[in-house]
Amino acid sequence: MDLYEYQARDLFRRHGVPVLPGIIATTPEEARAAAQDLLDGGAGLLVVKAQVKTGGRGKAGGVKLARSAEEAAERAAAILGMSIKGHTVRSVLISEGADIAEEYYFAILLDRAERGYLAMCSREGGMDIEALAAERPEALARVPIDPLAGLTAEAARRIVAAAGFEPGRTADGVAAVIERLWEALVTEDATLVEVNPLVLADDGRIIALDGKVTLDDNARFRHRDHEGLADASSVDPLEARAKEAGLNYVRLSGEVGVLGNGAGLVMSTLDIVAGAGERHGGMRPANFLDLGGGSSARAMADALSIVASDAQVQAILVNVFGGITSCDTVAEGIVAAMGALTGPAKPIVVRLDGNSAELGRRILHQADLPGVTIVETMEGAADAVTAIAEQVARGALEGRRVPSLPVPPTAAPTPQEA
Ligand SMILES: Nc1ncnc2c1ncn2[C@@H]1O[C@H](COP(=O)(O)OP(=O)(O)OP(=O)(O)O)[C@@H](O)[C@H]1O
Ligand SMILES: [Mg+2]
Repeated sequence: MDLYEYQARDLFRRHGVPVLPGIIATTPEEARAAAQDLLDGGAGLLVVKAQVKTGGRGKAGGVKLARSAEEAAERAAAILGMSIKGHTVRSVLISEGADIAEEYYFAILLDRAERGYLAMCSREGGMDIEALAAERPEALARVPIDPLAGLTAEAARRIVAAAGFEPGRTADGVAAVIERLWEALVTEDATLVEVNPLVLADDGRIIALDGKVTLDDNARFRHRDHEGLADASSVDPLEARAKEAGLNYVRLSGEVGVLGNGAGLVMSTLDIVAGAGERHGGMRPANFLDLGGGSSARAMADALSIVASDAQVQAILVNVFGGITSCDTVAEGIVAAMGALTGPAKPIVVRLDGNSAELGRRILHQADLPGVTIVETMEGAADAVTAIAEQVARGALEGRRVPSLPVPPTAAPTPQEA
């Protein structure tokens, strides 16, 4: 989970990283009151900053100076509602301004490939750090951090020296802030902590003027205090529903709903659907949904209902490989789920394989559910579902019963099982 700047700033403050006072506002009136508070508190200069989870706010006009409460309200009125790289600005941070002598850059990130952390530091912060890294890589020091040893005082000194700081008060100040930022990263289970700019103020203080923090969602269970950081307005409502139902769901942008059991199977199903879609009007997967093990009727009903309520979805592929879960349970789940489904029916293609696949297919045949097609192979199923999705998308099926594609003869119940 990425944090907003003001959340990152609160977190920094808790770990002793120097930040400036600031107040969040969602209307120009709130901005005026916040600015007045800060001015009364002794601030000489104010900054109004768009709160969006994307970079380049300054360049987009989302960071503006103000000298009075009136001016802060005007700036807020201009920035609120603005779209920055597709992110609508819903709040602004009214912050005390700093008298900046120099701007630096500092970040620590999880380096998965190296199984460690990477600290990056530059004396040339404030600007586009990607451009600096590309054009003058020597100006950006990169120091690997051993996760077991941690970022020690010695490592902090090495980092500032590598970035070209002369020994002295500024170098010591930056090193001290770096140690605090490491503590924040470890204590809060973050995978990224970035400060751009980390500034040297005219009075010699080192201050974090901006902050980007990514928290590790896998560690959320140990941080009750992080619950309030999630931001309902930026969470996809279907993803929220899926999470509540305990399903692993990620919304994508295509037209074919996909559900299966096991992350690996679902991932390869996405690939195969995307491949088949190239032959059928460019249909693409609409989501990733892993039912998990022991696919109960309940899980199937929740999953089908979530995938079907995505308005973009034209047809759904259920791809299950029976292992511990047997396919007859899955088939019964589908039958029960179809009975409970509300909303417009969407065509469903089912492919069952593995444990009790024959029995599962027989259950589905006998139930004779409208709009349900059974296909035996994964590729055949992907082909069928993209073909159907394309037809539905074209409106070709409007007002008609959804098609049942011819079922390959082998899919029929075998006499010995019947
Ligand atoms: N409190 C402040 N006082 C004075 N100047 C500031 C303050 N906050 C930001 N600035 C100036 O505005 C510039 C941009 O601010 P900031 O880094 O927060 O936004 P940004 O870099 O455009 O956004 P992002 O980091 O999301 O790309 C800073 O480099 C700094 O020069
Ligand atoms: Mg910045």
